[in-house]
Amino acid sequence: MSNLPRHVAIIMDGNGRWAQQQEQPRVKGHERGAEVIRDIVTFASRHEEISTLTLYAFSTENWKRPKVEVDFLMKLLNRYLKKELPIYLENNVRFCAIGDVSGFSGKLQKLIRETEEKTAHCTGLTQNLALNYGAKDEIVRAVNTLQAEGRVVTSESLNSALDTPQSVDLLIRTGGDHRLSNFLLWQAAYAELFFTRTLWPDFTSHELQSIIDRFKSVERRFGGL
Ligand code: IPE
Ligand code: IPE
Ligand code: MG
Repeated sequence: MSNLPRHVAIIMDGNGRWAQQQEQPRVKGHERGAEVIRDIVTFASRHEEISTLTLYAFSTENWKRPKVEVDFLMKLLNRYLKKELPIYLENNVRFCAIGDVSGFSGKLQKLIRETEEKTAHCTGLTQNLALNYGAKDEIVRAVNTLQAEGRVVTSESLNSALDTPQSVDLLIRTGGDHRLSNFLLWQAAYAELFFTRTLWPDFTSHELQSIIDRFKSVERRFGGL
């Protein structure tokens, strides 16, 4: 039996380098990257084996970037959410933000919540967008939630208190680096990891399908034989 890519997670890296290669400002890479998100979400929504797609858009560490780049990313997120809502609805995609969105402006938080509410009835793909997300922060917030509720910390209770409880089957990083950069450390405990040198703005659904094909033939043992 081949593996099913039920939960696919992607570290969308390489936007800045893509722009620099074309002698354009880094932000042009983010703009192009946002268009690729649309293609990949649409592809995943039509892929019968994928039920959750989690995309890493902004990490808890990305605040260290120059203010102009951070400001641009916030504006782009605002534009993206407004533009994508009809696409989500058309493709029956439920949008969920993961991460600490309280770090964003009130206006952006409202838009994020509205996008979640307006797509809450969609029963196809669940698309998690990781925003001000860090796996360490997620785990600490989950432990604090359990403590505040007076609950014992177990693997199950902690799992259920996370922003997203689903374990990742296939984790992909574009852009050529081989690291997780604080993404889904808990959920990816047994994920299959695939790294591609393709920069995110050049990533296509065709390449995603070819990674899925390779993933399917891996023997996943989960510690057994
Ligand atoms: C990923 O692309 C997008 C974000 C982290 C927001 P980068 O901006 O990290 O692009 P590179 O890695 O510098 O090329
Ligand atoms: C990871 O990319 C975060 C996102 C893709 C949102 P980074 O470019 O921030 O990661 P590092 O700094 O190279 O580890
Ligand atoms: Mg990067």
